Amino acid sequence: MQDLAGKHIVLGLTGGIACYKSAELCRLFVKAGATVQVVMTEAAEQFITPVTMQALSGRTVYTSQWNTREPNNMPHINLSREADAIVLAPCSADFVARLVQGRSDDLLSLMCLARPMDRVPLLIAPAMNREMWAHPATQRNLMQVSADGATMLGVGSGWQACGETGDGRMLEPAQLLEDITAFFQPKLLAEQKVLVTAGPTFEALDPIRGITNHSSGKMGFAIARAAREAGAEVTLVAGPVHLPTPRGVTRVDVISAQDMLEATTRAAQSASIFVATAAVADWRPATHSDQKIKKDGSGKTPVLNFVENADILLTVAKSERAQAKKLFCVGFAAESENLAEHAKAKRERKGIPLLVGNIGPLTFGQDDNALLLVDAKGVRELPRAPKLTLARELMTEIAARLPDWRV
Ligand code: CTP
Repeated sequence: MQDLAGKHIVLGLTGGIACYKSAELCRLFVKAGATVQVVMTEAAEQFITPVTMQALSGRTVYTSQWNTREPNNMPHINLSREADAIVLAPCSADFVARLVQGRSDDLLSLMCLARPMDRVPLLIAPAMNREMWAHPATQRNLMQVSADGATMLGVGSGWQACGETGDGRMLEPAQLLEDITAFFQPKLLAEQKVLVTAGPTFEALDPIRGITNHSSGKMGFAIARAAREAGAEVTLVAGPVHLPTPRGVTRVDVISAQDMLEATTRAAQSASIFVATAAVADWRPATHSDQKIKKDGSGKTPVLNFVENADILLTVAKSERAQAKKLFCVGFAAESENLAEHAKAKRERKGIPLLVGNIGPLTFGQDDNALLLVDAKGVRELPRAPKLTLARELMTEIAARLPDWRV
C-alpha cells in the first residue's frame, strides 16, 4: 500500500551501528510512495556509505552544510522547507544531547534547529547501548527534546550489537514505518478507547479437537490498527490467529467464545467504542472430554450435542454503559446472500447504531473486502479495497456519527 504517497521525508542518520537498518527503512519509505532525502552526519558515514543510501533513495546524499550544489549554499534551509517530516533514525545519545542544546555545527543538527517547527515535525528513533539509554542524562535529554516538540518513536529491547541485552535498540524498520504511517493519519479518535474483537473462536471437543471457522482475523486487526492510527487507545481481543499485533495496541488472546465474552465485557467497562468483528461460534459442544475421544473399532460415531454461546455483541450492546450512550457499538454481519436485507434486520435485532455487512466467502482470509454500512438513516457502500483502507474509512464513518449519536 502506498501509505506515504506524496510525502517527502528527510531521513537523518547519526553515528550508530543501527545505521545498517536505515538502508531498509529508506527502502520501505520509497516502497510506501514517499520521496526520501538522506542527510548523514560524519559519524554515520563510519557505519554506512552515502553510496548505499543514494542508491536506495535515488537522491544524492547530503553530508555537509558547505554545499555549492545549492544555489544559495543553504541546504539546511532548503531541505527542511520542502520536508513533510524529518526522521532521525538512528538518533544517537550524542545527537539527542546536541538537539537539547540547539547545537548547529553540522548540517543535520543545523537543519533540525532551522526547521519550521509549526509544519515540519521531527520524529526521533533513538539507538544506543542499554546503559547509555538508561542513563539519567539521556532520559533527561529525551524528555527535553520531547518538550521542545519532537515526537519520540521509542526503542526496542533485546540483544545489542555490543553483546549486552536490554532496552535501547533502534526499532525495526517495519515498526518504524508503521509508527510513522500512523503519525500522518488524522487523529479523528483522539481521547477514545476502542475495543475490537477479531478472529474465530475455537470450541474444544477434547484436548485434541474442536470446532472453529474460516475467519482470519485480518479485518479486525486492520480495524485495531486504524483505530490506533486515529489516536485511540485500543484493546484487541483476539481469537486463535497467527497475526502480528498492530503497534501500540493492547492484545488479549482468547480461545473460546466464553473466554472472549469474559475478556470483552471486562474491557467494555471502560471503552467508548466497541467494534465486534469476531466470527464467534454460535454453539459449543455440550460436553468437553478431558481425554481424547477414541474410536472403539465398532464403527459407531460419536453423537455431538451443542449449547448456544452467549451473543457477545448483544450482551455489550444491552449493557448499562451502551444504553447510557457511553459506548458506541458496531457490529459486523458475515452473510452469504441478501446482504442489505440481512444486515438491516441484524442491526435492529442487536439494537446497535451501526452494522457493517460483508459477504463471508468473499472476505475470509482475503487482504481486501467490500463493506456495506447500515445505520438508522440508510445504507452506504464502501467499495472493494484493502482491509486497512476500509478500516480507516470505517474509523472516519464512526467518528462522524459520534457527536449526533451522543446527544
Ligand atoms: N457476535 C457476537 N457473539 C456471538 C455471535 C455474533 O459478538 N455469539 C457478533 C459478531 O462479532 C458480529 C455480529 O455479532 O459483529 C453478527 O455476527 P453474525 O455471525 O453475522 O450473526 P449472528 O448474530 O450469529 O446471526 P446469524 O448466525 O443468524 O447470521
